[in-house]
Amino acid sequence: MFQNQEIAKDIFYVGVNDRQKHKFENMLPLPLGVSYNAYMIIDEKTALIDTVDIAMGDLFIDKIQSQLKGRKLDYLIINHMEPDHSGSIKLIRKYYPEMIIVGNSKTLSMVEGFYGVDNNMLEIKDEEVLSLGKHKLQFHLTPMVHWPETMMTFDQGEKVLFSGDAFGCFGTLDGAVVDSDMNIDRYWDEMTRYYANIVGKYGAAVQKALKKLTPLDFEMICSTHGPIWKEYVSEVVDKYDQYSRYDSEEGVVIVYGSMYGFTELMAETVAQGLAQNGIKTIIIHNVSKSDPSVILQDIFKYRGLIVGSPTYSNELYPEVESLLRKIEIRGVKHRIFGCFGSFTWASAAVKRLNSFVETMKWTKAEISVDEKQGLKEDNYKACLELGRQVAELVKIPIEIPQHCV
Ligand SMILES: Cc1cc2nc3c(=O)[nH]c(=O)nc-3n(C[C@H](O)[C@H](O)[C@H](O)COP(=O)(O)O)c2cc1C
Ligand SMILES: [Fe+2]
Ligand SMILES: [Fe+2]
Repeated sequence: MFQNQEIAKDIFYVGVNDRQKHKFENMLPLPLGVSYNAYMIIDEKTALIDTVDIAMGDLFIDKIQSQLKGRKLDYLIINHMEPDHSGSIKLIRKYYPEMIIVGNSKTLSMVEGFYGVDNNMLEIKDEEVLSLGKHKLQFHLTPMVHWPETMMTFDQGEKVLFSGDAFGCFGTLDGAVVDSDMNIDRYWDEMTRYYANIVGKYGAAVQKALKKLTPLDFEMICSTHGPIWKEYVSEVVDKYDQYSRYDSEEGVVIVYGSMYGFTELMAETVAQGLAQNGIKTIIIHNVSKSDPSVILQDIFKYRGLIVGSPTYSNELYPEVESLLRKIEIRGVKHRIFGCFGSFTWASAAVKRLNSFVETMKWTKAEISVDEKQGLKEDNYKACLELGRQVAELVKIPIEIPQHCV
């Protein structure tokens, strides 16, 4: 019944959309939903590349059966074992018991560990080629993008790269599946958010993978989430290169926590100082309202970060502390930093913010502002000055060597 779209010669899209999941990995909101992409190659041998979340397993089986038209499924190629892609392995194995599961040694041990499946497996090595007939598939191991077993599969004749999660983004595929057939505007921020939150820690591994993959001259990227990239291949690769080198654009993110508005007023004033000194992209996030995944998205994109926090039980405001931890975990590099805070009897927040920037080894504005109780004239001016100092530093692009990590 299903007419799966042919995206290249004998290669069909058999993925599904998820508009029900509330939060990806039970953490990251999905305002535009998410797609789990999978592909089938119909040749002398038939192959399925990746599976989908088991919640959509039934529909997935129907799509596969429609495509096979009664033929048997010869291979299941697994690029990535996170359960949003491996979840339907056990189900498919029940329908196609003779199907050979193809993966590297780490993949195959996870197939057994997660799903208890341990027969009809083919272990492949880096750069090994599997022939389906006309289609020759070459496997490229790309460990830690973003799990240890991750690999990519390259169709040498069609020049299609099946990239797993790499180059993927949130957002369902509403009708069309290839970028050239749709308006892709809504996917760019979702790609940055996906990268910052899921892949962000593994910049060095992404750089290694890019070095290894670019000589393949792929013309199409079939990732496991979001559009298939055909028209925008080079833009998508450039984005991954930028983010994995922790390179950034001119702009400043101000993140503050505030219970009663004192620290918030300081944030507004710092923003005014930035604007007065020529910064046009200024994004203010109330840490208690903006989702952390969106704050991280903006931090990955822009060069400047200014954080403000009240002192709270001799510590940072807990929501600010939690965000700093998320930044630390991702090892974000090459940022310009500024900080401010307010207290009532004994200050601690600004001290902690200054020690954070030392751990991160970022460039810091000379001034930081720490106000006791309400904002007064001298510190109002100091907030404007903090904005000015960060603006001047942000306007100078940071020299980041190509492939530096
Ligand atoms: C639960 C709680 C704990 C606080 N702990 C401290 C503290 O340890 N030291 C301090 O100087 N002020 C403390 N304060 C006062 C706030 O830091 C101060 O009022 C601050 O200016 C509030 O900023 P805001 O209006 O941006 O929330 C505390 C306030 C609250 C509500
Ligand atoms: Fe993943
Ligand atoms: Fe995924």
